[in-house]
Amino acid sequence: MADIRLEGVGHSYDGGRTWALRPMTWTWRDGRAYALLGPSGCGKSTLLNIISGLLSPTVGRIWFGDREVTGVPTAGRDIAQVFQFPVLYEEMSVYDNLAFPLRNRRRPKAEVDRRVREVSRLLGLEEHLRRRSRRLDPGRQQLVSLGRGLVRADVAAVLLDEPLTVVDPAMKWTLRSELKQIHRDTGHTLIYVTHDQTEALTFAEEVVVLNDGAIVQAGEPSELFLSPAHEFVGHFIGSPGMNVLPAELLDGVVRVGDATLGRASVELPSGPVRVGVRPEFVRIGPAGAASGPVARVTGVDRMGAYNLVHAEVNGHPVIARTDAATTFDAGATRVLRFAEGRAFLFRDAVRCGALEPLDGRAGA
Ligand SMILES: Nc1ncnc2c1ncn2[C@@H]1O[C@H](COP(=O)(O)OP(=O)(O)O)[C@@H](O)[C@H]1O
Ligand SMILES: [Mg+2]
Repeated sequence: MADIRLEGVGHSYDGGRTWALRPMTWTWRDGRAYALLGPSGCGKSTLLNIISGLLSPTVGRIWFGDREVTGVPTAGRDIAQVFQFPVLYEEMSVYDNLAFPLRNRRRPKAEVDRRVREVSRLLGLEEHLRRRSRRLDPGRQQLVSLGRGLVRADVAAVLLDEPLTVVDPAMKWTLRSELKQIHRDTGHTLIYVTHDQTEALTFAEEVVVLNDGAIVQAGEPSELFLSPAHEFVGHFIGSPGMNVLPAELLDGVVRVGDATLGRASVELPSGPVRVGVRPEFVRIGPAGAASGPVARVTGVDRMGAYNLVHAEVNGHPVIARTDAATTFDAGATRVLRFAEGRAFLFRDAVRCGALEPLDGRAGA
């Protein structure tokens, strides 16, 4: 219906001593499927409740398109919100629960019936329509809650706050792809809150990563994986997460201990930097084959489809992901190489540049 714009929006639960949500300016684009990803306590629910109007922000203004809604209560915002645990009328039938948001807005009876049947078919609730909601197991009750959030066609956005927590794992996969389908059909703006990277990456067109009350990066799933802008994104997305090596930058050249890793892609003041590279982009060469940091292999985890080789560079752990056939003896000495364009430099946890080969050769 319209973009949702937050202008300097922040929230403090303790009169301004700490920010649960640091003041931020951010636009949720109309019709996009977002995942809001971050660890427990980082401010995801606070942010969602501010958008829906359940919570009034300590500072800032909220706009739906060119209409300011900062002081508008939830009912006036046309937002559908689904919570972590079932919210429904236990004494009502499943049908009546699903119909409620539509009847409440006086939609014609035929439309109510059509939408209830569509949504219940998607969620596998057809055989339960006549049952009283109280009599369903918690997983199915949550599906009814989800259905109540999806049944209206005329909403500004659908906000889902960890909606699949109580739904069983097998059903989660099915529901996620159905949510995607529903998103394609309805074109609603969807914001899906989760602390689970797999859920976020498989569901969303755009993943917004929240840490400690602030958005640290937003982008397509592949962007967050290939090009983390913040150490937190490197750690939180990927398994295992990004390796981080403390290094020294001197006149543009990056060194770890005695080894030269390459040069900084941009001009930066000399001093300590941290080199971040995902295990997928660490290659292990024979000792003495090329210039690069010398690593001592400390162990290998066999993961079935691939191996994780644990090594130490200058006393710091580094993990390389190799194919399942590649293995090393503990104690072996090897030289590491980082895939070109996939190793980055960080200062104060924020990306400040990339690591480039010294002589311009690929992968040197
Ligand atoms: N009603 C509340 N009163 C006081 N502090 C709260 C309240 N709700 C959340 N918080 C605090 O605000 C921070 C963010 O919480 P929340 O938005 O619920 O995070 P998330 O949904 O990411 O787990 C946490 O430190 C939490 O303890
Ligand atoms: Mg929460």
